[in-house]
Amino acid sequence: MRSRPRRSPVTELAENPLLEGLRARRTPEPCALTIFGASGDLTQRKLLPALYALAFRRLLPEQFAVVGVARTEMSTDEFRERMRQAVGDHARDEFRQDVWDELAAGMRYIGTDFADEGGEEHVANCLNEVDGERGTGGNRVYYLAVPPSAIETIVVQMGRRRATGGWTRVIVEKPFGHDLESARRLNEVIRAYFDESEIFRIDHYLGKETVQNMLVLRFANGIFEPIWNRQFIDHVQITVAESLGIEGRADYYEHAGAIRDIFQNHLLQLAALTAMEPPIDFTAESVRNEKVKVLRAMHTPGPKHVVRGQYGPGFIDGDDVPGYREEEGVAPDSQTETYVAAKLFVDNWRWADTPFYIRTGKRLPRRETTIAIEFKRAPHPPFDVDSEDGLRPNVLLVHIQPDEGVSLAIGAKVPGQGLQIRTVHMDFLYGGAFRVGLPEAYERLILDCLLGDATLFTRADEVEEQWAVVDAMVAPWKRDRPHFPNYAAGTWGPRAAEELLHRDGRSWRRH
Ligand code: BG6
Repeated sequence: MRSRPRRSPVTELAENPLLEGLRARRTPEPCALTIFGASGDLTQRKLLPALYALAFRRLLPEQFAVVGVARTEMSTDEFRERMRQAVGDHARDEFRQDVWDELAAGMRYIGTDFADEGGEEHVANCLNEVDGERGTGGNRVYYLAVPPSAIETIVVQMGRRRATGGWTRVIVEKPFGHDLESARRLNEVIRAYFDESEIFRIDHYLGKETVQNMLVLRFANGIFEPIWNRQFIDHVQITVAESLGIEGRADYYEHAGAIRDIFQNHLLQLAALTAMEPPIDFTAESVRNEKVKVLRAMHTPGPKHVVRGQYGPGFIDGDDVPGYREEEGVAPDSQTETYVAAKLFVDNWRWADTPFYIRTGKRLPRRETTIAIEFKRAPHPPFDVDSEDGLRPNVLLVHIQPDEGVSLAIGAKVPGQGLQIRTVHMDFLYGGAFRVGLPEAYERLILDCLLGDATLFTRADEVEEQWAVVDAMVAPWKRDRPHFPNYAAGTWGPRAAEELLHRDGRSWRRH
């Protein structure tokens, strides 16, 4: 199905990858954005700063409104004040009163419990008023920044009231369900009221410039694709490391753990982008068709190849930090994992027998997200090499964050007499090459949704395939009790994670 004219983010990004690219795009139609869960952390730390950044660049429609909905009682003025504070604390741009005034003028707040009968009525009335006052034309975006248990009620109630004359889209935050079964059920409920083209399941990693650059790197350059396969690549390592702990989110994290918080979504998406076949074009359907195919082919070869961990007390940057079980709100005997590493295979012609080692953890030594493509060694180096280092394989390293960029590790001759070889890096750094700040992922994704472009959002079948991979990994976890904690905060995870690679004669990269 090709409902919209072809647009090519590859060309767009390659030629004009940052702000200019965003500016060159269309402005969305008038609309009202309703945020459910508006008193939460995500709204303050990500959503409002992103809306402010869009307003700052004049990328929002003139007729625009933001309606915050949450259980906390507060007035619209109090909500505005909180959001102004959030913008002051978290926005990437300077605070400009005129930009803020324009955005704040379209803000409303409704304190209501959506489970109550009257909740939906309040929201609907407010949106009708907003249409009159702001000229938003009945166009609606519902942003569900609420736990999965609250999604269903909101979807059913807002879904029933579709006759506004405008379009309606719904953005669903992760976690999308808790396992395959609950995700399927959620998909069914949402699809009973919304068409797939109106559903935007968010995975904010897809909004990151450097993640999109993975597509550009692979499909806009002729040199990588011929060697992007099992014949030339020895293995792939994907790391999402965080030095942060759970940041007071015990309620959520105790149920999610690292596997549902990061592995099921961000990590599997990075793996899918690395492994997918070239799409025939860059429409939402073509890109997502290819990702689904590769996710369907992904699996771990068995429980021995999955490692989970939980951090104990330790040091980060020289400071004492508590263990996971000592964090506020965490059960003293919690079995929740804060670290997962796994070996995955992708059973297709391109990747058969090529391991993808992927890992994520909290309280690791530093924040770092990378995709490392390690190539096979040169078949027969004709040198009499006197340095071990000289024999290291080539690695293409995609730095997603921080220090965004790409680097290629190659062997080079050390100047001087004799023949010593050392690994050096050819580096491309975003900051140096483009000299503009990178937009936040949420800016790109909110704007795409307002424009109706779902390319960077997860489709129903994609999210279900991701759960299928995870369900198979966690099934054996129900049968045993792990010995937690099994790594100290500030270290690179449990020893078993090292062994996972050592067994294959490999080791994790220390960047
Ligand atoms: C979120 C997780 O999805 O991603 C958090 O819920 C995590 O636990 C965050 O800290 C990491 O995102 P980023 O963009 O900082 O890498």
